[in-house]
Amino acid sequence: MYIPEEKISEILNTSDIVDVISETVILKKSGRNFFGLCPFHSEKTPSFSVNASKQIFHCFGCTAGGNVLSFIMKYHGITFPEAAKMLARRYNITIETKEIDPAKRRELHLKEGLFRLNKTVMGVYFDELKNLNPGDKASKYLKQRDISEDIIQQFRLGFAPDNWESIVKVLRDRKISKNMAVQCGLILERKQKTGYYDRFRNRIMFPIFDVNMQVAGFGGRVMDDAMPKYMNSPETPVYNKSRILYGLHAAKQFCRQAGFVYIVEGYFDFLSLYQHGIKNTVASLGTALTPDHVRILKGYASRIVLVFDSDAAGISAAKRSIKIFLKEGVDTRVLVLPEGDDPDSYVVKHGHEAFNELAKNAKTIMQFLLQVSIDTHGLSVEGRIRILDDMKQQLILIQDSALRSLYVKELAETLNIDEKAVLEKVRELYLNRTAKRSSLIDEKKDDDKLESDRREEQMISLMLNYPEIIDEIKNREVLDYFYSEKLKRIAKKIISVDPGKKAFITDVMARMETNEDQEFIASYAMNDSASEDIRKTALSLMNRIIRVRTKQENTLNSKIISAEKGCDSDLMDLLKQKQAEIQQLHDRF
Ligand code: UTP
Ligand code: MN
Repeated sequence: MYIPEEKISEILNTSDIVDVISETVILKKSGRNFFGLCPFHSEKTPSFSVNASKQIFHCFGCTAGGNVLSFIMKYHGITFPEAAKMLARRYNITIETKEIDPAKRRELHLKEGLFRLNKTVMGVYFDELKNLNPGDKASKYLKQRDISEDIIQQFRLGFAPDNWESIVKVLRDRKISKNMAVQCGLILERKQKTGYYDRFRNRIMFPIFDVNMQVAGFGGRVMDDAMPKYMNSPETPVYNKSRILYGLHAAKQFCRQAGFVYIVEGYFDFLSLYQHGIKNTVASLGTALTPDHVRILKGYASRIVLVFDSDAAGISAAKRSIKIFLKEGVDTRVLVLPEGDDPDSYVVKHGHEAFNELAKNAKTIMQFLLQVSIDTHGLSVEGRIRILDDMKQQLILIQDSALRSLYVKELAETLNIDEKAVLEKVRELYLNRTAKRSSLIDEKKDDDKLESDRREEQMISLMLNYPEIIDEIKNREVLDYFYSEKLKRIAKKIISVDPGKKAFITDVMARMETNEDQEFIASYAMNDSASEDIRKTALSLMNRIIRVRTKQENTLNSKIISAEKGCDSDLMDLLKQKQAEIQQLHDRF
């Protein structure tokens, strides 16, 4: 698929980066930029910035950066044309695409096909449920579980009949490819290769939507004690379990409003809470939470409340996923329900007010872990030492040092151990680990190169923020004096854009071919330490760049010339070697 350049400009000029990013990152205006928590790395204080007039984003923490298209690509893990298409759709821009990469095209085509088929099958299951009699098992089951008509309607719950070939037959009747259905995980081939059979039989069906409301997969529950209780779609090109959260498509606006999100485990937990008006909820579907899940949620809420059953499985699931939250640095609370209840049964029994009340007392992660550790080891002298050993493993995972010291204090108080001793234990472990890591990193620096890079980068930053200087740069051929080939290459692309254009940065950005170059441009465009007299600064920087290089080369050249004259061929070799080394040093990236 090839999207013509004019289309890309149209898309870039029509779209608004603040609008687009606001959908996934909570942005607050501060000065000329918007700031929020970076969706690409873990952080507690916002270093992710978006500039509306330049239409770029840049993270001061992890250096991710670029324009609205690079954001969408990175955020959704999709390709450039996919991102362009997504934006075009959003702003009602039509693109006629020309074909380019057959493999890519096939993949896109496949995904579209899989989504379409899932949607069709969702309709089939939905109708099956609709057409049942009130006395049928599935209808009775949902009623008995207090699931309302509205919820069935909104979340398109369905029923897979007790039949080995009901989807197989639908495919046959509608002439839909079996192969697609196999890839969706809806049907499987019989062992003797004599045909196909349905994966989901005699189950209540839950379609799983992605954030864009496309049907990515299904879960199906039996209506009795048969095993397995739930059957799920396998991973497919459209169902990535490490990224999808059940219910997020519906919950996202409520998470924004509330500022926090409950994470529960099951389909029914989600649906029950939603039905009872607790709509800022998503379900992890019993799988372990991943850093991707957490990063996605960070875009919708600043606090996460993990809701767990009080049974052993619940506790160990909590302990497993907590590591991720500590690392990602999100404000996370843990709500352990009274024994014997899960979120569904609790809210059905006690109602939403009781649930919200309970949630107010959710523990911080450290309080929770400490409680679990105390329950395991007791508070005897040996017990407390064990608890300390347990807790230090968790404490070193906390990236934020202020937060860590608060927890250390809390821990010391609870265990009645001197705070310094606790700190010492944590530091010991920390040093032990980092020593191992840092011995592998070689921190050699080349001052010369650093200096010239800094000048050349500053020049680029000035070109981006003060394009009026570009004519002067061209006239004096300043770029020929750049040491760094990379910076020279980037600067040449910048000066190829008409500096008088209104969307100058947008154009420059669109010309960058690699992600790395885009990030680079974003960081330097954002970094406009506007000085009093920007023109004067630019001119004097230009002079310096030219002077330093001319001087260094003159010195070397004159030495080479005199060595030549004196027939000192050893010295000449040495000098030439040095010349080559200098160039190499600057070319290296
Ligand atoms: P639970 O076993 O806690 O069940 O599984 P639940 O959600 O309370 O289900 P109900 O209330 O008995 O209907 C939690 C989640 O783990 C996944 C499902 O997503 C389920 O909702 N799970 C569980 C499976 O995928 N397969 C299973 O066999 C069991
Ligand atoms: Mn349950």
